Amino acid sequence: MPAVELSSVGKVYGYGPSAMVALNDVGLSIEPGRFVSLIGPSGCGKSTLLRIVAGLEAADRGTVRVHDVSPEEACAAKLIGFVPQSPALLPWLPVLGNVTLPQKINRDAPSRRERIGQLADHGRGKTQPDMMALLIRAGLGDAIHKLPAQLSGGMQQRAAIVRAFGLQPDVLLMDEPFSALDEFTRESLQDQLLDLWDELKTTVLFVTHSVSEAVRMSDTVVVMAPRPGRIVDLIDIDLPRPRNQRLFEERRFHEYEDLIRDRLHSAWRSTDAA
Ligand SMILES: Nc1ncnc2c1ncn2[C@@H]1O[C@H](COP(=O)(O)OP(=O)(O)OP(=O)(O)O)[C@@H](O)[C@H]1O
Ligand SMILES: [Mg+2]
Repeated sequence: MPAVELSSVGKVYGYGPSAMVALNDVGLSIEPGRFVSLIGPSGCGKSTLLRIVAGLEAADRGTVRVHDVSPEEACAAKLIGFVPQSPALLPWLPVLGNVTLPQKINRDAPSRRERIGQLADHGRGKTQPDMMALLIRAGLGDAIHKLPAQLSGGMQQRAAIVRAFGLQPDVLLMDEPFSALDEFTRESLQDQLLDLWDELKTTVLFVTHSVSEAVRMSDTVVVMAPRPGRIVDLIDIDLPRPRNQRLFEERRFHEYEDLIRDRLHSAWRSTDAA
């Protein structure tokens, strides 16, 4: 059973002549444990798609299932973790309070999860992850008592990622989580995310504007085009893991980058012609 399944999903904002078709006939099936990236020009509906899978917005057409239940049910069972583009940490709580908050609320989530049956499928333990250990691994060991305003943007982003992983979500949705970071911080966070993903076997749906980031991280890259927002290509990245910095020296890595850039250009051209 797929971890995420969208079929014929449509979403329109507004009415009449000013209506904007944010998503048109979107179909996507993601198997458990896959790392899938969405890439495409601004306005092609990437965030809309993510919000619909997260249950934050409803599709106008089509069906969306997360482990064969609705996004709302999946959220209530804490199957979904969401890292928005800006971290949205609670400003009055220190780092440790922020990252442990999801574990404290909605205490009946574990029983809902069991009803949905995912924990058994994944063979994962039912104990809560050690948040201190995760914070230390994310380089935030010295920052646990600091408030978000005392952290750099990259540190806030890492705290948001740790918080999302703390839920042990089956499906982790991330909307351009590294876009505002410098190159070194970004690469280090990519490493940390890949390590955590490998350890926790989470399904990841990841939005990025960076072609090299998409190739490095993903099992599959989904290329989207705007007006109307739609999927135009799925590209499987057949490169060995773990994918460390040495990958950048490999010819095949750059061939994938070229292929995706080419598909993105086609997506633009098809839009202009429309
Ligand atoms: N709440 C909203 N009300 C009206 N229109 C919206 C709303 N949210 C998104 N849109 C429109 O839907 C389209 C898709 O937006 P979306 O944010 O999903 O794009 P995106 O691919 O994430 O873009 P970006 O790369 O710039 O983040 C855009 O044309 C946008 O203006
Ligand atoms: Mg967006």
